[in-house]
Amino acid sequence: MVDVDSFVPEAKAEIEEQVGDDNAVIALSGGVDSSTAAALAYDGIGDQLTPVYVDTGLMRKGETEQIRETFDYMDSLRIVDAKERFLDELSGITDPEEKRHAIGEQFIREFETVAREVEADYLVQGTIYPDRIESEGTIKSHHNVGGLPDVIDFEGIVEPMRDLYKDEVREVARELDLEEIISERMPFPGPGLAVRIIGEVTEEKLSVAREANHVVEEELEEYDPWQALAAVIGKATGVKGDNRVHGWVVAVRSVESRDGMTARAQEIDWETLQRIQSRITGENESVSRVVYDVTHKPPATIEYE
Ligand code: XMP
Repeated sequence: MVDVDSFVPEAKAEIEEQVGDDNAVIALSGGVDSSTAAALAYDGIGDQLTPVYVDTGLMRKGETEQIRETFDYMDSLRIVDAKERFLDELSGITDPEEKRHAIGEQFIREFETVAREVEADYLVQGTIYPDRIESEGTIKSHHNVGGLPDVIDFEGIVEPMRDLYKDEVREVARELDLEEIISERMPFPGPGLAVRIIGEVTEEKLSVAREANHVVEEELEEYDPWQALAAVIGKATGVKGDNRVHGWVVAVRSVESRDGMTARAQEIDWETLQRIQSRITGENESVSRVVYDVTHKPPATIEYE
């Protein structure tokens, strides 16, 4: 386990030394990794760092407001409203890898605009050890900000947490007094709710996914999962009132894991599952069915796409 007492000052010193009098940017996703990296870097170099949060419209309920509040103390924080541009780019795309690619590309365009504006020389990233291992194995094309260095000619990349595991990052977040909502947060993928929607991403599916994820996170908090999520996986017949409907099928998934590389589906009691089912179908007129995913990783992945 990392010794946070020495890690924090050493990481700050390393960032200060690398960036010097220049400017840096970091993409803030709201996840524990980028939030911790941003807080470390901001402590080190203050407003020489511009944290950039791109609101892709693929975020969870209340997430943008949460970011605004939590990082309000950083004067240089930029929040970019790119919701419509992302939906436009995603329109008509059904292939999972194409989706990730489209999101990654648009993200780079948004981020690049700010990076050029503030004349950033350095890119700070919240990369952690398992990210490096997974991208070496290329299990999936991971959208962090991997493509950025190819687009912008940064003088350097700063990755203060490159050797840490997730639980160590949480330790560091606590040491930096990041609010619990950040330090204890479940991992959330860069492409957001888009990987929890099978097929084309539409405003309607996004709204179902957003509400269902909110219910699942609330109801399963007591199980302390590594990740608990809901995905819109297709359509099926159901009855609502007196009518047969062709409604959305929502899959609920809750897993235990140490680093996301393998995972075990959690055993959830029937009453909790029924409560989730009744809230999701009750709150969303267009959902006809809720299923629980019992598959471990492997053979399944944690996310659906
Ligand atoms: P999978 O679905 O591959 O996910 O079992 C393993 C872990 O990685 C997260 N994940 C991502 N994180 N960009 C990210 O930053 C991505 O494209 C991405 N895809 C999956 C996933 O939520 C889980 O924690």
